Amino acid sequence: MADVIVLLGAGSLGQAIARRISAGKTLLLADINPQNAEAAAKTLRDAGFSVSTAAVDVASLASVEALVASATALGAVTGLIQAAGVSPSQAPIETILKVDLYGTALLLDRFGAVIAPGGVGLVVSSQSGYRLGALPDDQTRALAVTPVEALLDLPFLQPGAVKDTLHAYQLSKRGNGLRVMAEAVRWGRRGARVNAISPGIIITPLANDELNGPRGPSYRGMIASSVAKRAGTPDEVANLAALLMGPDGAFITGSDMLIDGGTTATYWFGDTPPA
Ligand SMILES: NC(=O)c1ccc[n+]([C@@H]2O[C@H](COP(=O)([O-])OP(=O)(O)OC[C@H]3O[C@@H](n4cnc5c(N)ncnc54)[C@H](O)[C@@H]3O)[C@@H](O)[C@H]2O)c1
Repeated sequence: MADVIVLLGAGSLGQAIARRISAGKTLLLADINPQNAEAAAKTLRDAGFSVSTAAVDVASLASVEALVASATALGAVTGLIQAAGVSPSQAPIETILKVDLYGTALLLDRFGAVIAPGGVGLVVSSQSGYRLGALPDDQTRALAVTPVEALLDLPFLQPGAVKDTLHAYQLSKRGNGLRVMAEAVRWGRRGARVNAISPGIIITPLANDELNGPRGPSYRGMIASSVAKRAGTPDEVANLAALLMGPDGAFITGSDMLIDGGTTATYWFGDTPPA
């Protein structure tokens, strides 16, 4: 049986990353939207990849457990790419927390129990996690290590404490990086590594929803004031993913890497830093 790479989220970032690391392996492509999964699978098969598809809701325990069973039945799971998610303009607060925060923690937990020795995981987080000021130490630790099924009961994630969908997204993405760091210890016991990438604005359907949504002007401002003065491309994110997931990344685990054309640097240390 071939090694298995599990890709959550058949979107532009997930596909670009999978193309870089899945040659000669079985790619299990899982998405909540079967049309997205089938369309991506066709493109990838036409490019020579061996692809299976599955329907999954990363926010559902039963669904993720079924995916783990399907993946391990195909072969040794040597790679996990978590690129499924929703953005602040696409969903309400509860859905963002359930998909982006809980769903990611759930995947790391369940795939961390079956990842093959030498295997590697990657979570697509976001620069948004870096725009949240420092959290109290107890909240930081809670996001990192609270058992998955208790995560959404944390008091600072309750209605009223989370201001809006952007705040929910920022908390979720901060949580992703922390979760990856904590999970790196557990994955390491199996001889596996896990890292996160925090992209800035990368042109994909999700980013286009943001650029054309209520936060459009702010997103365009972010690009204009950044160091790079342009949005990124999925392939640039995939280059970093290939480093992290390949042999050149052997010394990198529990890390979260910004790739944002300097938007975070400008946000904190540019001409008009936040008050
Ligand atoms: N594009 C950007 O500018 C950008 C920047 C920073 C971070 N990100 C992050 O990258 C990830 C992927 O984004 P993208 O731009 O490729 O988006 P995309 O919209 O192209 O793809 C996301 C995919 O996730 C799937 N999905 C949504 N909810 C799901 C669920 N509950 N279970 C399973 N699948 C689900 C969607 O059906 C879609 O196919 C997201 O986590 C996003 O927050 C994107």
